[in-house]
Amino acid sequence: MRPLVCIQGLGFVGAAMAVAVASAKDADGRPAFDVVGVDLPDNVGQPRVSAINEGRFPFASEDHSVSSAAHAAWRTGNLSATVDPAIYAKADVVVVDVHFDVALDNTSPHADFEPLRAAVRAFGQHIRPGALVVIETTVPPGTCANIIAPELAACFRARGLSEDGFLLAHSYERVMPGEHYLSSITDYWRVYSGHTPAAAEACERFLCRFINVSDYPLTRLHSPTASEIAKLMENSFRAVSIAFVEEWARFAEAVGVDLFQVVYAIRKRPTHNNIRQPGFGVGGYCLTKDPLLPRVAARDIFGRHDLLFPFSEQAVQTNQKMPLVSLKALEKLLGDLVRKRILILGVAYRQDVADTRYSPSETFAVAARKRGAEILAHDPLVDYWPEMDMRVERGPLPAAASIDAVVFCVPHKAYRQLDLATWLGDGARPVVLDTVGMLSDAQWAAIRAAGSRHGAIGKGPL
Ligand SMILES: NC(=O)c1ccc[n+]([C@@H]2O[C@H](COP(=O)([O-])OP(=O)(O)OC[C@H]3O[C@@H](n4cnc5c(N)ncnc54)[C@H](O)[C@@H]3O)[C@@H](O)[C@H]2O)c1
Repeated sequence: MRPLVCIQGLGFVGAAMAVAVASAKDADGRPAFDVVGVDLPDNVGQPRVSAINEGRFPFASEDHSVSSAAHAAWRTGNLSATVDPAIYAKADVVVVDVHFDVALDNTSPHADFEPLRAAVRAFGQHIRPGALVVIETTVPPGTCANIIAPELAACFRARGLSEDGFLLAHSYERVMPGEHYLSSITDYWRVYSGHTPAAAEACERFLCRFINVSDYPLTRLHSPTASEIAKLMENSFRAVSIAFVEEWARFAEAVGVDLFQVVYAIRKRPTHNNIRQPGFGVGGYCLTKDPLLPRVAARDIFGRHDLLFPFSEQAVQTNQKMPLVSLKALEKLLGDLVRKRILILGVAYRQDVADTRYSPSETFAVAARKRGAEILAHDPLVDYWPEMDMRVERGPLPAAASIDAVVFCVPHKAYRQLDLATWLGDGARPVVLDTVGMLSDAQWAAIRAAGSRHGAIGKGPL
């Protein structure tokens, strides 16, 4: 009998995690685990469950290995999904990959812990004593010790079981949906911790069975609160570094300097070799909210109203407004946006992914519409943009002659290969704006040859 791993939440993280664990092999090359994904019976969860049960990965991805591995595990019979929580009774391991939302009301971040508590109760009412629970969901520091452990203890108490009969661990995800989606789980460094030493040991044994730990050794931290902090601090660090560059991009723009060249010069210095470059904005589910979670933890879990995170929170707000800088640049090139047809290239939050949550393109499109523009959207991986409730073209671009401006918002691989000379060859001269510094010299040459007005964020005069 193979150990059974239940993955709770089949989103961008949980679905890929289910495939990674189902693809793990034992010493004889046989599947190491049976994996069952569990989601809710609603219009989000049900289609994800159905996809897995039909041998399909639920999300489009540039990484074809994730869909072929999902299909292979489904054919082998060790990967399936359900909406029935009764399956948790058979689990040896439960991995929690549900979402945890935070909202910014005025300037204060707020989170509702009840959906997470409900998710914990969903398996706490069923799991066997001795089962390992691994929390991968990004949560405010202190959540495992102060919310999840007591919730599980209460479930066990209500079932007449010993209150400390579960093994609770925390190991956060660094998965990157995109070109290396699957290997960003299996071939990447991991941090983990246990609520008890026994839980830390059990978590380590589990992680070692599907992660390439010889090339990517694990790091154990001494408590879940420490590893919860690690997750938030690394994402906040990234959000702050991006926001930091934004103010320099505006300065460089104003004084006519190409900040990309400045950044390349600075990167030569080894201590500064990962300084960010100017861009369109920051989106996705993580960098837009994770820097807000420490304040929630300090205030709502530890009762510390005096602990503030001004850098992290300012970064979220600066990054949120970044697409409006591109909109201003477009207005400078195009003039008034009323009744102008603007083609947005890329609606996902980053290159080579299909996830449109909190994408900078959305901020841009909403603000452009408010100014009277008509928005057309293209993305090689998306055909419907739920946040904007609009259809997205996935195939060939609309004719250049039918639009007033084209804005490169996401550096998808497909756009790097775009033959702009042919597309602009019909005599059309839409304004071209590159917000992400992605166009090649040949593409710029084609734009100039066509006689289009053009601009680029962070590059100064072109
Ligand atoms: N998306 C990323 O790239 C990424 C990377 C690292 C970490 N994370 C973190 O991982 C977590 C999950 O992110 P995601 O992008 O997969 O979210 P998601 O919203 O795509 O998926 C969450 C899933 O959980 C399901 N769910 C919610 N409550 C449930 C319950 N009680 N039982 C079963 N299923 C339930 C939802 O229906 C949904 O399918 C978040 O905390 C996120 O911050 C995300």
